[in-house]
Amino acid sequence: MNQTIQTTGWNFLKTANALTSVTLETLLDWQRRFGELYTINMGPLPGFQAVADLEMVDTILVKERARFKKAAMYDGLALMTGRGLVTNEGAHWKKQRRLANPAFRREYLDDVFALMMEEVDASMDAIAAREGEVVHWEAEATALAMNVVVKVLIGSTLEGDTERFSAAAQLGLAHAMRLWKDPFFKYTQHLSGAKRRFDAENAFLGELIDRFIRERKATGNAGKRDILSMFMTAVDEDTGEPMPDQQLRDEIITMFLGGHETSAHTLAWGMLRLRDHPEVMAKVRAEVEAVTEGAPLSREHLRALNYTTMVVNEMLRIDAAVWTIARTNLEPVRFPNGLEFPANTQFMIPIYAIQRNPKYWPRPDAFEPERFADGLPKGALKHSFMPFGAGERICIGRNFAMMQLVAIVASLLRRFDVEVLSSSASYEAAITLAPTSHIDIRVRCL
Ligand code: HEM
Repeated sequence: MNQTIQTTGWNFLKTANALTSVTLETLLDWQRRFGELYTINMGPLPGFQAVADLEMVDTILVKERARFKKAAMYDGLALMTGRGLVTNEGAHWKKQRRLANPAFRREYLDDVFALMMEEVDASMDAIAAREGEVVHWEAEATALAMNVVVKVLIGSTLEGDTERFSAAAQLGLAHAMRLWKDPFFKYTQHLSGAKRRFDAENAFLGELIDRFIRERKATGNAGKRDILSMFMTAVDEDTGEPMPDQQLRDEIITMFLGGHETSAHTLAWGMLRLRDHPEVMAKVRAEVEAVTEGAPLSREHLRALNYTTMVVNEMLRIDAAVWTIARTNLEPVRFPNGLEFPANTQFMIPIYAIQRNPKYWPRPDAFEPERFADGLPKGALKHSFMPFGAGERICIGRNFAMMQLVAIVASLLRRFDVEVLSSSASYEAAITLAPTSHIDIRVRCL
């Protein structure tokens, strides 16, 4: 088939700069100008096919998934996560995913709900103690998401290391993404000292994880049902051997990174959205009161919080924390629309732009939780909402994330009248969409 695909133009320096510095605005602009399929020209580096066409997305992630692997975007991330679940491939990935799945099943989440709520309540108490003061919400949300993930998945606490850990994680994720978005960074990282800083932070993260593993080896896994014990007691079905230490480390760091930045950023951006919607805050509060009748939040309550869940879904739609994913085809591919691409084409699936596409979402830039009143999009529009990805590589932690996000939004708004002081924040489109300035709030206890 004769295919004409628009491109971002010959000036790849301009393209790379726009993609690196004003990523989100650029993605929306390109989508407006070029539609749901276009070529991002990266000059000397392989370019990308940006794909926001939902049928093509389905081909890549679901129907023809065996022909695709994760694209070079994940190479930088793999410097931190090695062969952990996000960056692993093939039969080894499948084996590891099978091992990890039980830790994310509904029954397990029911079990860990109380542990999670301990952290949520502790965070709310700390915020209450600062009534009337300015609170940096993005930092609170990060610490809370971090504490929850560490407690629930590793059965431990970070103690004094929370801030250092999340700063190291943020620096690492930004560095990893820049290696992909910026054609020169591979070279300039050595001159600017960025590589040295990245290596140092990465080493810090690795040492912290090693400490958890060492401590667990010393205390043993008896009575533990967390992900660390599942990985540590798992035996390879072919060799009968336990998981090698390096693989254990890769899986745990993956869970740390995947499990806290995403949820924290969703909460951070979500707060800015709530600023303009006091009526949404009031509706959440009313729902929580009606469902719980003043009792502490339970897992059953969470399931009944329909409106609060709609609010969280709208937060995940409008400010997609994982703003893009990417794949490369292992062999030539022909899409149902007749378009063909040679092997080793890089496909970028810009989740952020898809979830803001006016063809899929009326008034895409408006924060309207009611759009989820009938549930998530279905049928041909299914992938118009894909904050957790799609297909077999869909986020393993999505139910955990939803449980956590709904519980935090509900807990915060039932206890406090929240005044959102910041009206905007700068961002870094790292692997996740990180705020780089404060999102300030002030609370009044109710
Ligand atoms: C708002 C919260 C979250 C968002 C938006 C999110 C988003 C995503 C996305 C888009 C993917 C797919 C990546 C791809 O296809 O290339 C993914 C994969 C993954 N996520 Fe999440 N995630 C969230 C929370 C979590 C949590 C809480 C955990 C763990 C505790 C987690 C662990 C993972 C892992 C391990 C994978 C790789 C799965 C695989 O390939 O088998 N995520 N996530």
